[in-house]
Formats: sequence, C-alpha cells, structure tokens
Amino acid sequence: MARKIGILTGGGDCPGLNAVIRGVVERCAQDGIEVYGFLAGWRGALTGEGKILTLDDVAGIQAKGGTILESSRTNVTKIPGGFEKVKATMDKLGLEALVAIGGDDTLGVANNLRKELGVSVVGVPKTIDNDLNCTDFTFGFDTAANIAMEAIDRLHTTAASHARCFIVECMGRSSGWITLYAGWAADCDLVLIPEQPTTMAEIMNLVKSRYLNGKRYTMIAVAEDVRIDGLEQGDLGTDAFGHKLLVNSSLAKDLAGAIEKNMRADTTLDEKREYFECRYVVLGHLQRGGAPSNFDRILGSRMGVAAGDMVCKGDYGSMVALQGTKIVQADLDMAVTVRKDVPDDIYEAAKIYFK
Ligand code: F6P
Repeated sequence: MARKIGILTGGGDCPGLNAVIRGVVERCAQDGIEVYGFLAGWRGALTGEGKILTLDDVAGIQAKGGTILESSRTNVTKIPGGFEKVKATMDKLGLEALVAIGGDDTLGVANNLRKELGVSVVGVPKTIDNDLNCTDFTFGFDTAANIAMEAIDRLHTTAASHARCFIVECMGRSSGWITLYAGWAADCDLVLIPEQPTTMAEIMNLVKSRYLNGKRYTMIAVAEDVRIDGLEQGDLGTDAFGHKLLVNSSLAKDLAGAIEKNMRADTTLDEKREYFECRYVVLGHLQRGGAPSNFDRILGSRMGVAAGDMVCKGDYGSMVALQGTKIVQADLDMAVTVRKDVPDDIYEAAKIYFK
C-alpha cells in the first residue's frame, strides 16, 4: 500500500504557505507518497475534511497568497479529547504522519500530539510576525514587511503636503519585526516596538523637537502590541489561543489623538501649534494579503521540499528552519516555547535614524 501523510495550515494565513504545500507534494510524489490536505487547519484534522492533493492541484500555486487549504485558529487543546480525535482521524485515513505548517500555536499543538500520543509530525514555521524561535526568518515576513514599507513610502508624500504627523500601525503581535523593518526602510522618524518600552513623554520630545527644528512633518511606525506609559489603552479580549485581539485596539487612533492634543496645548510652542494635525493608518490584514515576494516563494519552496524530504526518510519530530543560508532541522520544543524578539543591537542601529 502507498505511504500517505497529512498536511495542514493553521493560524493566521501568510504569503508563502502555498509554496510549502507545493514543495511537500512535489517531493513526496517523487517517492510515491500521497499527501492528504486537511481543510482549515486543526478543524480539518478533527473532522477529516480534506482531500488528496495531486500535482495538478499544486501546479503554480507558489505565486498565490493565502493557502489553498484554508486556515483556522481551532485550538485542539480546548476540545475535550481533541488530541485523540486527531489521531483517530489520521488512523482512519491511513496517515503515517502529519506536516503542520504554522506559528507557535499550530506547532505547539503538533508538538503536544507528538509528545502525548506519539504522532509522527514535521513542523514548518510560518508567520508574518517572524517571532518563531530557531529559524532566522519565517516565510511571509518579507512580503508583509515590504507591503508595510510601500504603504509608509506612500504616506510620506501626503504627510509632507499637509505638514502632518502620521501614525502607522503594523501587525506583529508582541514582536516588532515588521514594524522595525518597514519603518526603518521607509525612513520613519520614530519606530515603536514592544521589545523597547517607551513613554508618552519620550514620544512628545521627539515630535516637539522636530517641530522646533522646522521639520514640516513626522512619520511614526508603531507595532500593534506596543504599550505606552502615559497613554490610556483599553482591554481587547482574546482569541481561541488566548492571544489579545489586537485588531480591536485603538492604539494608533489614541496615540495620534494624544500627540495632536499635547502639541496644541503646549504653550511653549508658537501659535502655529493650534494647526498641528495628526492622522493615523492601521495597515491590518493588508499585510497578510496578496502574492508572496520572491524571497518568500523560495523560502517556502525550500522548506516544503525539506519537509517532504524528512517525510520520505521517515525522519519525524522536528521543524525545518532557516539558519544562515541553510535549511536545517530544529528542535520543536525550543521553537514553540521561546519567542524570537527583535534583538537590542538591531534596534540600536535603527535608532540612529530616529530624530
Ligand atoms: O500572527 C499573525 C497575525 O497577523 C498577527 O500579526 C495579528 O495580531 C494576528 O495574526 C491577527 O489575527 P486574526 O487574523 O485572527 O485577526
């Protein structure tokens, strides 16, 4: 009987997922291994919904954004007997292993399946946030950072024309990778990320000093999970994995409002301060949409082929990763338990430009 494995994409979608799916299917086909694609992440692994992926199904899909398998944030851990249900689905379909493509949540579930029920898994790290440990980059990040960078590039001209201050909010959860790479490359005057705590007073110092130095406009990038001492920020609610629903946040709006109010109220400034305006843009899911960049197509393809290779060899229990220029196997436990934040030295280098 032909060998058969399952594959799923879980968590937020991300440019490059389709390149991975294609890589796994192509490499497995070389060894005559069938690949069953579960629909909508762990939901499909619980219900069995999905289909065998043929080479025709995956032809050319590396150029498309999103995932042909759909995704969800279904959390197996929260479902009574969830792990056993996934194992039963796999047994029923005759799957010897599962390739799980996801971030810390999806890979965390895969890791527990492996540890608790001995299910054979291969992890593939995915997230636009680039916060997964043990891999230098996750696919999807490059595309998202480029989308955010291009958006900020565009905002410069309108900010300059109206001599306004702009706040641009980027995704990334508790890591500032997208915000820093986009904001730095697009010449922001200040980039605020969760790894580097800040205060309202520090932000006002920068905006005010630019005003006093005759700079006509100011561009500030802020990561969605930045906490600012001195700025009131409300409760957001959580998703199925317990993460704050940052899409509900009014961070950019509140920050823009506070900067405008403080500037207008500052009587040490000249009377033109009364015309000071601040606007905000929340880039949101735009950063996850559309075609993957060249980097993400190739990284996704390399990771997909490597994951397929591990399946062919029956080499299970780890995660493919990019370290330097090489695709390697990394420890799943290490990958899902420690978050990869932006290191201080990268932020320090970027800070030279914040003035
Ligand atoms: O983890 C990826 C991500 O895009 C985060 O940057 C963001 O906070 C979150 O997902 C949004 O999730 P959802 O698509 O469920 O709103």
